[in-house]
Amino acid sequence: MANWTKIDQTVKRWIQEAGTNIRASFTNSLTIQTKSNPNDLVTNVDQETERFFIENIRSHFPDHRILGEEGQGDQIKSLDGVIWMIDPIDGTMNFVHQQRNFAISIGIYEDGIGQLGYIYDIVHDELYHARKGHGAWMNDTPLQKLEQVPVETAILGISATWLINNRHFDQNKLIQLAKDVRGVRSYGSAALELAYVASGRLSAYITMRNAPWDFAGGKMIVEEAGGIVSTISGEDIDMLSINPVFAAAPGLYEDILKKYLS
Ligand code: IPD
Ligand code: CA
Ligand code: CA
Repeated sequence: MANWTKIDQTVKRWIQEAGTNIRASFTNSLTIQTKSNPNDLVTNVDQETERFFIENIRSHFPDHRILGEEGQGDQIKSLDGVIWMIDPIDGTMNFVHQQRNFAISIGIYEDGIGQLGYIYDIVHDELYHARKGHGAWMNDTPLQKLEQVPVETAILGISATWLINNRHFDQNKLIQLAKDVRGVRSYGSAALELAYVASGRLSAYITMRNAPWDFAGGKMIVEEAGGIVSTISGEDIDMLSINPVFAAAPGLYEDILKKYLS
């Protein structure tokens, strides 16, 4: 059986070390490449950070498998055993253009169940983490259990992409939601936006296309803080595929699902 206390202490050490390396990279010039489209970026720092985690995991936990965004891990086709889902830099565009609003995101799942989740905002030195059944923290401070928020006072995290004509969802429903809430924010990092839902900085987050490495850490942290994470139609997230993701505080979750997402 996995020793989660030991794994937790070890990951936190690696995350701090990776954070130090990423901070040090700010003064170096980046090698930037594009992936699926001209706005889908990857840098040498994304790749080096992913490699750093993979090499460490392979030497300390050789029977664990790894799903990494930059493809240097394993081909994952089933959720059996322990799987690390890693986004070495979530918010690469922000990393390249702004040097802020990006994070390391890691979710560790056993037979499809989240056991440990981490989102590290390197620039602000904020490590959000959760352990199944034990709660969620920001650094050493436990996150308060999320409470009910009415739509009128909610702050919604959503990208402008989903408020204009798109082929994934009727933008008019989301425009109405954007009008009804108190405010709308977009940070350009799904992981940070989930961490913000967990910590109450956002009341809800909606996106139409996230990959497992984008939400694996954040889903665990939101759930341990008392929030709910599902697809936009209220179904369970498939941890092996791209999903539309809806995360919110309880109460608000049901209100948005019923009135705006169905
Ligand atoms: C992206 C960011 C972005 C989200 C995209 C992700 P990346 O991740 O999280 O906010 O809207 O769906 O792909 O490419 O910066 O790791
Ligand atoms: Ca990502
Ligand atoms: Ca990434």
